[in-house]
Amino acid sequence: MILQRKDVLGLEEMTAEEILGVLEMAGRFRAVFDRPVRSVPIMRGRTVVNFFHEPSTRTRISFELAEKRLSADIVNFSTATSSFKKGETLRDTAENLAAMKIDMLIIRHGSPGAAAYLSRVLECSVINAGDGAHEHPTQGLLDIMTMQQRLGDLRGKKVTIIGDISHSRVARSNIWGLNKLGAEVTLCGPPTMVPGALAQLGCKIEFDLHKAVVDADVLNVLRIQLERHATRSFPGNREYHRVYGITPEVVRALKPETFIMHPGPMNRDVEIASEVADGPRQVILDQVANGVAVRMALIYLLSGGDPGALSGAGG
Ligand code: CP
Repeated sequence: MILQRKDVLGLEEMTAEEILGVLEMAGRFRAVFDRPVRSVPIMRGRTVVNFFHEPSTRTRISFELAEKRLSADIVNFSTATSSFKKGETLRDTAENLAAMKIDMLIIRHGSPGAAAYLSRVLECSVINAGDGAHEHPTQGLLDIMTMQQRLGDLRGKKVTIIGDISHSRVARSNIWGLNKLGAEVTLCGPPTMVPGALAQLGCKIEFDLHKAVVDADVLNVLRIQLERHATRSFPGNREYHRVYGITPEVVRALKPETFIMHPGPMNRDVEIASEVADGPRQVILDQVANGVAVRMALIYLLSGGDPGALSGAGG
């Protein structure tokens, strides 16, 4: 068994061996994408519920595609179409789902700890698809897979995460996962968006963008999450772009092989210039493609799937 657990709530709780095991399996599912028939009948008869209490494009569709490609039965529900609109609580919702005998629940929620709470109430497996500013483990895994594809072993590799670190669940999952695999993580952004306490997780903090990127192997550029700002943490979008935006000028200062990631959705010409977002250094759509493979691997392994399956698939 690669995943000796019922739930995946964050990369904080996963071991390096678990992370590497999921990524190896994801590599095999990624190879299946190049086949004319992209689905495998290995989760027939299992039921997965996708519960999105916050907006999502990539994560929601990626989970749904992953489940379809595993041939699972799927139920989607969102706040807009559920009895949350009538005041039903998360606990009552969870107990109703449990009564329907589902095998797995995927949850995105605005409150940190929502996935952990449901994992205690439900007997089925729970995967956290993003809980407030806490963690987004599948995004962390797909980001790490994208880095591994280009850099191989991440030990000693320099990863700079830039932007709104304080509100970012993506940053937290990247930090936990990358540290476990031996990468050197630097956080960069305005002091109002980079909590000094994160240095305790083993990260370097650098407020000067030029110093933070000049010897990086990869930049992971984060969205400014205005929806989570109680008060504005910076003077304006133009000011932010001028000081912390990844512009063509910043790219010219990078090492020739350095590549640029962004989890999406992007604020074009705020944290990343459009020319860079569409340019030769970015690997943003590779991240999206890897996301489906990572989610297939996670769902399959968490369901007790054979880690040796598809071993002839390459990857
Ligand atoms: N990266 C990410 O979580 O995107 P969505 O919010 O569109 O799911």
